[in-house]
Amino acid sequence: MADKVFWNGGALLAPVPPVLVTCGTMEHCNVLTIGWTGICATHPPMTYISVRPTRHSYAIIKESGEFAVNLTTTAMVKAVDFCGVRSGKTTDKLKACGLHLTEPPQGSVPILLESPVSLTCKVTQIIPLGSHDMFLAEITGTAVDPRYVDSKGKLNLQQSGLLAYAHGEYFALGRKCGAFGYSVKKKRR
Ligand SMILES: Cc1cc2nc3c(=O)[nH]c(=O)nc-3n(C[C@H](O)[C@H](O)[C@H](O)COP(=O)(O)O)c2cc1C
Repeated sequence: MADKVFWNGGALLAPVPPVLVTCGTMEHCNVLTIGWTGICATHPPMTYISVRPTRHSYAIIKESGEFAVNLTTTAMVKAVDFCGVRSGKTTDKLKACGLHLTEPPQGSVPILLESPVSLTCKVTQIIPLGSHDMFLAEITGTAVDPRYVDSKGKLNLQQSGLLAYAHGEYFALGRKCGAFGYSVKKKRR
């Protein structure tokens, strides 16, 4: 087997989901792209987003204590990039990208109609980490595009064309190659 090349510590975890985070209200909503996000507990369902304090969205999220994480698809890739390189301080990104908002029953932050799954989140802690502050948050509600829910109520998220971000580039998720626990599952006779 080939030997390794050793580099200094860096943020090279990939792939990550490049999500569109909405913040503010229906009247004054902003959206930014976030790569530093993930799930950190199941019960209660907890997530985090790490945001640089210089971002226009930072103060909005800090003040309201709420945001929404909108999963993204290959159809949304241009918007994902645009919302990550233009600021809401000077640009109406929703209008520029043709994105549409709807109000979820939980929380006051609007979510994106274009997103297959949106998570409404309530901030529980803000942890300063250096370049970024981590907003730790409880997921208070989930909005799902019914096109991806089958007649048995199963969510088929792979059909939405989920987007991945790896080392500065966007990718369409590839083919399924397993499912949770399949490696130890007994074969049916
Ligand atoms: C793929 C991608 C991922 C990004 N991830 C983050 C992130 O995790 N945290 C962050 O603070 N900024 C991140 N950014 C940069 C912000 O989205 C960008 O600075 C944006 O313009 C901020 O918008 P705002 O000023 O309207 O809040 C990312 C940008 C891209 C393109």
